[in-house]
Amino acid sequence: MKKSSLLLAAMAIAAMPQMMAQETLRFLSARFSPTDNSTYSSPTFDDSGWRNISVLQPWGTQNERTNNEYGWYRIHFRLTPEMQLRSNGDAEKLLLDLGKIDDADQTFLNGHLIGETGVFPKGDKPYLTAWDQHRNYTVDLPSDLLNTDGDNVLAIRVYNGNGDGGKYDTPIRISIPYDVDGAEFTISESQTPKGRNLKVNIAQPQSPAIASDQLKGTLKVDFLDFDSDKVIASRSKKINITAGKSKDFEFAAPEGNVKALLTLTDASSKHSVSRSYHMKYILTPAAPEAPRFNTAPLFGVRPGSPIHFRFGVSGNRPMTFSASGLPEGVKLNASNGALSGSIPAEGDYTFTVTAKNDKGSASQQFTLKVGDKIALTPPMGWNSWNCWGLSVTQDKVWASAQSLIDKGLADYGYSYINIDDAWEAPERAIDGTIVANEKFPSIKHLADQLHGEGLKLGIYSSPGAYTCGRYLGSLGHEKQDAESYNDWGIDYLKYDWCDYGTKHDKERDRGTVASYIRPYMLMGEYLRSQPRDIFYSLCQYGMADVQKWGPMVDANSWRTTVDITDTWDSMSGIGFFQQKDLYPYAAPGGWNDPDMLVVGKVGWGPQLHDTRLTPDEQYTHISLWSLLASNMLIGCPIDQLDDFTINLLCNNEVNAVNQDILGKQARQIVVDGDIQLWARPLADGSQAVGIFNLGEKDTTVDFSRYFEALGIKEPSNIRDLWRQTDLHDAEWKIPTHGVRLLKVTP
Ligand code: GLA
Repeated sequence: MKKSSLLLAAMAIAAMPQMMAQETLRFLSARFSPTDNSTYSSPTFDDSGWRNISVLQPWGTQNERTNNEYGWYRIHFRLTPEMQLRSNGDAEKLLLDLGKIDDADQTFLNGHLIGETGVFPKGDKPYLTAWDQHRNYTVDLPSDLLNTDGDNVLAIRVYNGNGDGGKYDTPIRISIPYDVDGAEFTISESQTPKGRNLKVNIAQPQSPAIASDQLKGTLKVDFLDFDSDKVIASRSKKINITAGKSKDFEFAAPEGNVKALLTLTDASSKHSVSRSYHMKYILTPAAPEAPRFNTAPLFGVRPGSPIHFRFGVSGNRPMTFSASGLPEGVKLNASNGALSGSIPAEGDYTFTVTAKNDKGSASQQFTLKVGDKIALTPPMGWNSWNCWGLSVTQDKVWASAQSLIDKGLADYGYSYINIDDAWEAPERAIDGTIVANEKFPSIKHLADQLHGEGLKLGIYSSPGAYTCGRYLGSLGHEKQDAESYNDWGIDYLKYDWCDYGTKHDKERDRGTVASYIRPYMLMGEYLRSQPRDIFYSLCQYGMADVQKWGPMVDANSWRTTVDITDTWDSMSGIGFFQQKDLYPYAAPGGWNDPDMLVVGKVGWGPQLHDTRLTPDEQYTHISLWSLLASNMLIGCPIDQLDDFTINLLCNNEVNAVNQDILGKQARQIVVDGDIQLWARPLADGSQAVGIFNLGEKDTTVDFSRYFEALGIKEPSNIRDLWRQTDLHDAEWKIPTHGVRLLKVTP
């Protein structure tokens, strides 16, 4: 490059916004030869006859020889103008990020060895593999090895000892990174007595490519009003972080619907990187003080089975409940709204329930549907796994149950309290009866306590000899276990495949649908023969198209995925991609189960952390699970819920979508770039529609563009279910990974 154009480039950079991204050369392919010759390292070697192969697949899958052989990759590159400028700086490094190489390599820049990992075979000494090691080679700048304004050749000699070898995980990346480029941000928020704070943790990795040991600069936070994008407050702090360490920063944040824009600027290079974070915002309006019924107007129970049901009614306490036309054999608890008793004969029993408090009264016409079907709407409640994992105890379970009532979640229909794995003792009683371990002094007592409140108790086992947590499973004791569950008063069984795989693999018909059905059919029959209703929750991660045969084994729900975790990739992968084709299989009595909720504090025990889903991702999670008619099992300790999470879980209009009595699961109707629309028909003739933004930027969406796809002409009403307001326009800004959840009336 000529001097004058260098100068121009320098001016252009100075004038550019500081948010300029690090420049990286990325290579998805390279010239390749499956032979070995030391001249291949030379920049002047003529490789024009070599074939280009992908660096994202092993050479063996690209018709190249695979075993006990050498191969060479060559890449020709030129620095970008920005890199050329920086290549003269003393503190800079050229980073050659090669990813993993199977098995050993020697890497050359313009003929000079710059790095080697793993060991090549020598004489009778075998090779040593380093296939799993990420190669980050650096060259200190300025350097004679590098041709700053001309061609450069990166040559990689690879030895592959076994299998399909070579370079096959990431693209090859060449850059001159700034110190701030490596900074890792973890952004969250906290509540203090004075208000809320934005919490930022910045970690500076100890990377060979980082020029200085100290990351020095400023962290600036602009707080923007989400809707208008106007800056409402700005704060900044000096930062000084040693490489390999991290530091926490807190910034007082304004209230409201606020987005934080974070800019980290390196003091010496003035280069900066930025992140944005949409802070928690509560959309659910406060519930009225007068009574309001929030639960579906029906409940299914089998003839003669004990009824455990609680009317979900919000409003001031104390509240009194009364009923007119209550069927014989059924009682309503006047102070907590719990329904109990039993009805011997099939039929629909309709009556009216009234709730009264100091602000007024409300009534609901309610039907007990006595028949074969239970779970007429998806189960709502709590499960111990996502928070406590194997560290669950009876006290922890009771703490969540108590808070389900005290914090008002029971007023919104959350009614199952489910103990997951780790309640079982290491050995059965002499007669083979399953017993609880010392962490659970009395499961029967717990069930009685819950039933008194109109709530229900769930438990966990496996058709295998062991559960996933290596506790005792039900194999060979299915009948006995089903009877114990009945004795204790259990209302829900999660039956988890786990170690059944060991038995399954030895069976003659292993892999057939019949072999997958068998263990679930067996327990299903024993559960059905108990004189109480036990919700049957299959957990085998969706194998053998469980949704197609779940109803045949009397299942009430079936897990359709592997375990969820609290990341966007996990939640959105399960929710948007894995459930897409499952809508025909959900119906009253049997539901697809995309796994439990990951909001609030999770951790799989004993340590908990705030969910890593952003607030918008959490709105998406609850909206999508409602549309999908999924089991709504909260996976965090209810006693530790913050206001944001309570409001997320207790929006009666959103929950009503999940609990809609038509029981139709949403379908993906539109995929328009990053925007997806999912819709389900509701019992009242309207439809629930979720408009999701799966992209990385906030986006304005014109809803009317999709009317046709949704089969809508001119809607008579569009209601925003989170905000609980009727909308008079059809264009809204939807945050990255966020949602608008609507009810559209034709
Ligand atoms: C499996 C299940 C989880 C949980 C654990 C318990 O991983 O999928 O939901 O029940 O087992 O060990």
